[in-house]
Amino acid sequence: MRKPLVAANWKMHGSDQFLETYFPALEQAIDSDKVEVVIFPPAVYLQKAAGLCQQLQAGAQDVSQHSEGAFTGEVSATMVSDVGCRYVLVGHSERRIRHRESSKTVAEKFLAAVGQGLVPVLCVGESLEEREANRTLAVVQSQIQSVIDLAGLEQLTNAVIAYEPVWAIGTGKTASPEQAQEVHRAIRDMLGPAGQHTRIVYGGSVKAENAMTLFNQPDIDGGLVGGASLKVDEFAAICGSV
Ligand code: 13P
Repeated sequence: MRKPLVAANWKMHGSDQFLETYFPALEQAIDSDKVEVVIFPPAVYLQKAAGLCQQLQAGAQDVSQHSEGAFTGEVSATMVSDVGCRYVLVGHSERRIRHRESSKTVAEKFLAAVGQGLVPVLCVGESLEEREANRTLAVVQSQIQSVIDLAGLEQLTNAVIAYEPVWAIGTGKTASPEQAQEVHRAIRDMLGPAGQHTRIVYGGSVKAENAMTLFNQPDIDGGLVGGASLKVDEFAAICGSV
């Protein structure tokens, strides 16, 4: 049985004060026997977030592929683990596109994370152009293959995969449950028998109103939520939809 996982990617939002109201309110609202809930705040708030977690977990939105050194502005996997976090996002499309992270770099970040005992949430997904050219599965499979090539299949099946079609992020356009299910199934097939226990979550304009139909699909094990995760009541409702 795969335990559902719902995660909040705050991106570059939040404040010290926001953490203080958000975390206790969400702790009250969720049941961690039914769903694992992970919050990804900006890096400067990770230590505070980890300290506020009871049932919740905190994770970093990104991590360096390097272990230490002259990398101004970067945060290492050791540091993320040191402040009490267990999860880390790698390969979010905003980093692949805006920060030009290649699939090879993403795979290196994945490996750095598992090397420190963190659980990476590997984000994959196609652009609108790629979907319209019928290249969705090829793109997603190649993003995943880069991680398998560097880290090995077993590390990947122990991680979490987030399918986030780029055209559905922050646009209000959600993949239909059938479109998402098709990609999730293809990802699971690619992982082989061990993939039966791998959690594959969906991201892209998930809201309280569409979460349940998405999470009802057999291969969708939860969600990675951006905008709607900033409203604690709405995010709690999404967590309750699993
Ligand atoms: P939205 O939920 O705002 O579309 O963002 C999705 C996302 O990028 C989560 O990582």
